[in-house]
Amino acid sequence: MSAAPTTSTGTASDVTAQAARRRTFAVISHPDAGKSTITEALALHARAITSAGAVHGKGDRRGVVSDWMAMEQQRGISITSAALQFTYRDVVVNLLDTPGHADFSEDTYRVLTAVDCAVMLLDAAKGLEPQTLKLFEVCRHRRVPVITFINKWDRPGLEPLELLDEIEQRIGLRCTPLTWPVGVAGQFHGVADRRTGQMVAFTRTPGGATAVVEEQLPADEAAQRYGADWTRAIEELDLLAATGADHDQAAFVAATTTPVLFGAAVTNAGVRQLLDVLVDNAPPPAARPDTGGSPRALDAPFSGFVFKTQANMNPAHRDQVAFVRVCSGRFERGMVVTHAGTGRPFATKYAQQVFGRDRDTIDEAYPGDVVGLVNATALGIGDSLYAGPAVTFPPLPSFAPEHFVAIRATDSSKFKRFRRGIEQLDGEGVVQVLRSDRRGEQTPVLAAVGPMQFEVATHRLAAEFGVPTAVDHLPYTLARRTDAGSAAALNAAPGVEVMTRVRDGELLALFPDKWRLSTVRNRDPDLVLEPLLADAQ
Ligand code: G4P
Repeated sequence: MSAAPTTSTGTASDVTAQAARRRTFAVISHPDAGKSTITEALALHARAITSAGAVHGKGDRRGVVSDWMAMEQQRGISITSAALQFTYRDVVVNLLDTPGHADFSEDTYRVLTAVDCAVMLLDAAKGLEPQTLKLFEVCRHRRVPVITFINKWDRPGLEPLELLDEIEQRIGLRCTPLTWPVGVAGQFHGVADRRTGQMVAFTRTPGGATAVVEEQLPADEAAQRYGADWTRAIEELDLLAATGADHDQAAFVAATTTPVLFGAAVTNAGVRQLLDVLVDNAPPPAARPDTGGSPRALDAPFSGFVFKTQANMNPAHRDQVAFVRVCSGRFERGMVVTHAGTGRPFATKYAQQVFGRDRDTIDEAYPGDVVGLVNATALGIGDSLYAGPAVTFPPLPSFAPEHFVAIRATDSSKFKRFRRGIEQLDGEGVVQVLRSDRRGEQTPVLAAVGPMQFEVATHRLAAEFGVPTAVDHLPYTLARRTDAGSAAALNAAPGVEVMTRVRDGELLALFPDKWRLSTVRNRDPDLVLEPLLADAQ
């Protein structure tokens, strides 16, 4: 490969090899299914962090790391997303954090644009929960391959076949279990590994350690030790095999089937198997298509896009970090890249890996990695960066907002700061900002997927920009994309208002409910009214 073209520093073959050893994924789940616990368990397993709770937990644990945002602590939620990197079996694993609360699902959505795979975590006793369903939809829409981990098997829960049935019926994703529990939920002895035909027995360690010890048992020994529980697991597996529920790598990568694993994150049970599946089966980074649909080769010079920005992570510095997913080439700290939106150069002297409170300087990164660029006030969500030939990646689509408020500065002398603050929050994607001709510039409208986003916005306007604000809730719950030709007729319809989304100039028609929408649509079927992404109605 000596003739391989070179990027700014690494050879193309280096980049291809480094990309092939990357796995970039996020854990998605309904709150309380165990996302923080499994994140810690994964990281601990790979020895990325040394004590439980260093990621971000709840209660006493919470605040250990992400204590920089008072809001998070007050509400006991985690709003920010960042990435944890660790090496496992010589593979570099990038685990992108997602907010735990449903109100911030737009953030989660953006994280899902930056991953190559998702781990869906279900609570064995609860099965599919509302947020899991919504996130599954997003994965399907983006064709993100999903590995399902059924957690909390150490507690009483549903039947495993029942859980699979629920996933297949409600999501239409074919389940292809790789491990199967031995012992009903609550009496968890271990898992039968379908790939080896052996049992992995989990036993508690003496001396009170919470992590289980694994023991590989050949089938006959498992049968001897676990009798009816083993027989039952084997019978259920035979049933699955008879229906063809076997792992098919191509179908998994195409996001039509999901490998399923069982475990208990709190005791580490099943966590190693999950890491192995990530390494063996999750897809490595692939060439990402640009706005015109042509893929940017992995070994082309550096390119990436911003999937998250966060201002004032460190109140002492009032900085802004832009999290960039590397799509091609080798990133080297200090390189000067081009900001696709403005064509301006952007210096990358301060490049960091940020997870919770921990920040480490990053010197180099490859496709699949996440780089936190500090002092990145010029960078907004969805912006592309590149070295060498220009590339622009598609903008990140916005979620359908369901909550709307008109916001104004209560002290009119602070309008300039207010406007700057609103622009900042829009650029970061904290809320979507809309303008309505009816309301004027002094009163923009904030649109959100969950109302807690407004709390974050008003809190930050007050704390970071010194602007107290007042909000009026607007009676809309539904937005549809429309065009200039339909706007006048829609604005004339009672209870309907058309606004412009500042970020992308889209015209959105807002409705109080789906009945009003259908009345308006029935009256004039030619009106342009298109659903937005992740719109349930
Ligand atoms: P989240 O980030 O998805 O919201 O969930 P988190 O990890 O915080 O877990 C929610 C609760 O579920 C925690 O209990 C956690 O200990 C528990 N949990 C997670 N995985 C397992 C598991 O495999 N088995 C069992 N039995 N419990 C599990 P908590 O009481 O809310 O908090 P804590 O005081 O135990 O930390």
